[in-house]
Amino acid sequence: MIRIKRRWELPAREVTPEPIYRQRRKFIRAGAIGALAMTPGAKALASIQIDEYRKGAITLDDKLTDEEDATSYNNFYEFGTDKEDPKRNSQRFDTDDWTIQVGGECARPGTYALEDLVKPHPIEERIYRLRCVEAWSMVIPWLGVPLASVLKAFEPNANAKYVAFRTLHDPERMPGQRRAVITWPYREGLTIAEAMHPLTLLGVGMYGKTMPNQNGAPIRLVVPWKYGFKSIKSIVGIEFTEQQPQTSWNMMQPGEYGFYSNVNPEVDHPRWSQKRERRIGEFFKRETLMFNGYGEEVAELYDDIDLRVNF
Ligand code: MTE
Repeated sequence: MIRIKRRWELPAREVTPEPIYRQRRKFIRAGAIGALAMTPGAKALASIQIDEYRKGAITLDDKLTDEEDATSYNNFYEFGTDKEDPKRNSQRFDTDDWTIQVGGECARPGTYALEDLVKPHPIEERIYRLRCVEAWSMVIPWLGVPLASVLKAFEPNANAKYVAFRTLHDPERMPGQRRAVITWPYREGLTIAEAMHPLTLLGVGMYGKTMPNQNGAPIRLVVPWKYGFKSIKSIVGIEFTEQQPQTSWNMMQPGEYGFYSNVNPEVDHPRWSQKRERRIGEFFKRETLMFNGYGEEVAELYDDIDLRVNF
């Protein structure tokens, strides 16, 4: 008689494919450490070092943008308004001892060391399209952790309808802030459902390396179905709010930049069409996809709203 072991009699490594088993062990171990370490006010160490990560957790067929292009053609007004300024002016930007202030509608407000927020979660590589509102686009291999995993640890309460994000405001270290280009600090926001969506990433690196300063070191948002300006860089503040938070581009030009700012080829910018885009590194323009090609994953978030009004 052949005795077939029941599933619960098998050690986990025998029923789970090896890489997934290992990944999960690491996750459980990291989670336990994380629960202890996530104490507000913990001493901050250097910015996130990328030792290992889960390769290709989300991929695309699109060709990757050259790393050189993605790290030298940037929008980061804190370091200047020309595309070459961020790389040139951010080289000495020091991100050691980075902390993030968490507040608003949650049970665990406080000031947290960056690594205490990130370390409990396995870092994933995710290849996403990035579509700027200016009608250019790139394909970038980000490294990061799901925003949802980080936010849940703060235990948001039922009043938390939105999440507001804030960039560092320090004109000494961010020379672009010496001019009133926008009302500093740069602010962004998401609905709680958008923030908790599995595609929303907190980026800590790209192209297998720690996040370059010009791309938003040490930590930035990556929301692939929205125009690039929603993906706020160098975050120092996260707040759970009941009311829709103010966002920088909407404050400047409410008729041009809405709160949602989902990539939408059907809604033109008042000054240019959004139907097509220039993929950096390509000669011919290509069609812009609804929700930047992520409609299957995110369209249901907007079932009840008119995207022409809530652009
Ligand atoms: N975040 C801050 N703090 N300041 C900025 O000027 N620019 C936004 C977004 N995040 C910006 C920012 C815009 S307009 C875009 S398109 C993306 O960052 C560009 O990201 P990248 O330079 O890494 O490609």
